[in-house]
Amino acid sequence: MQERVSPARRISGTLRLPGDKSISHRYAMLAAIADGDTHIRNYSTGADCQSTLGAVSALGAGVDRRDGEIVIHGRGLEGLQAPAADLDAGNSGSTIRMLSGILAAQKFSSRIYGDESLSRRPMARIMQPLGEMGARITARDGRFPPLSITGATLKPIEYSLPVPSAQVKSCVLFAGLYAEGATVVNEPMRSRDHTEIALREFGADITVERRKITLQGRPKLAGCQLSVPADLSSAAFFMVAALLVPESELVIQGVGLNPTRSMLLDFLISIGAAIKVLDVAQVNGELVGDIRVSSAPIRGGIIEKETTAALIDELPVLAVLGAASENGLTIRDAGELRVKETDRIATVVENFRRMGIEVETTPDSLTVPGRQRFCAAAFDSFGDHRIAMAFAVAALRGDADSTIDNADSASVSFPQFFSILRQVSS
Ligand code: S3P
Repeated sequence: MQERVSPARRISGTLRLPGDKSISHRYAMLAAIADGDTHIRNYSTGADCQSTLGAVSALGAGVDRRDGEIVIHGRGLEGLQAPAADLDAGNSGSTIRMLSGILAAQKFSSRIYGDESLSRRPMARIMQPLGEMGARITARDGRFPPLSITGATLKPIEYSLPVPSAQVKSCVLFAGLYAEGATVVNEPMRSRDHTEIALREFGADITVERRKITLQGRPKLAGCQLSVPADLSSAAFFMVAALLVPESELVIQGVGLNPTRSMLLDFLISIGAAIKVLDVAQVNGELVGDIRVSSAPIRGGIIEKETTAALIDELPVLAVLGAASENGLTIRDAGELRVKETDRIATVVENFRRMGIEVETTPDSLTVPGRQRFCAAAFDSFGDHRIAMAFAVAALRGDADSTIDNADSASVSFPQFFSILRQVSS
């Protein structure tokens, strides 16, 4: 599907966005292995999180949608059933990586696969620690989906993550739920901690000391009432839109402000953005608040090290902002971008080229000079939701209408993106 995006004179309005993708996955998986029902409000509407619901339901956890919430009928730690068919993770790295931690500990075997993009993404990063725990997993060419998982009795390990990855951390912790004793994960730098918070909500015994996470195995998880904050990574596209288009002002309500994610706000403020956070509260252990953002001159800067890891999903749209900034933007230590839904350094560069924007890259960095002119272009998402949305935002500043091919990939995380974009643009 192709979308057409016209230049905007102003971005304005008050928005409520769908639930956070990362948190939704975790709630659905933990609800499936908890005792009793879990009620989840504002569950992500993205296709990725529907893949997770499809998988937990194929494993025997009932899933009902009623009155704006999702109810998952938990089967208890030992209650999942062998799926009748292979599990389909779709485009979702979170589904395949995190669920594998649970599948590895079952009394049955399973196979989990994904679409073409997911079939090219690295799985050795989870196979390694799960193997140390005693899991039996084989993969295509030893490292790509589909994964064939033979259930096994797992033992606890202490694992130091070689790359900062919340998906790998979560996979090991989910496997650790089934191991007798304490599973320990050491992180090289802090990654998003929704799993740790969610595990506590469901009643697990988990402690965090600096970068060391300790989980006691074989807890009793109890179904609970949960509400998912709006997705800060989805909000990022509208925040950048408001920063790019003069005279804009946008309020985004009920957004997840977990400190392991909200470095986005700190970074934007540090380069000149006018952002205010209002009405902060804690819901199910997660910080939530309203964000007010208005257009302001953006200086540009450097993103590197921990900041790169913390902003990993926002980098494509930040690169777009960088091209309009005063001094440009350099993103370093970003090799992980090459193994996302697409090689995001390559797909950002290709779309920049189409709009006449200069950019330089190395295997793990990208530098975009500032004050560049945004020409209308025929963009392509290359099947990557964040690329579709990042260049739809770039198109708001174009000199004429732009098109985005394969724009429907936005629905992987944010099906309502284009309709909300039209609603806030004038
Ligand atoms: C996610 C972790 C990140 C992120 C992805 C969601 C999560 O991936 O890019 O969109 O929910 O844990 P990595 O764990 O590969 O860094």
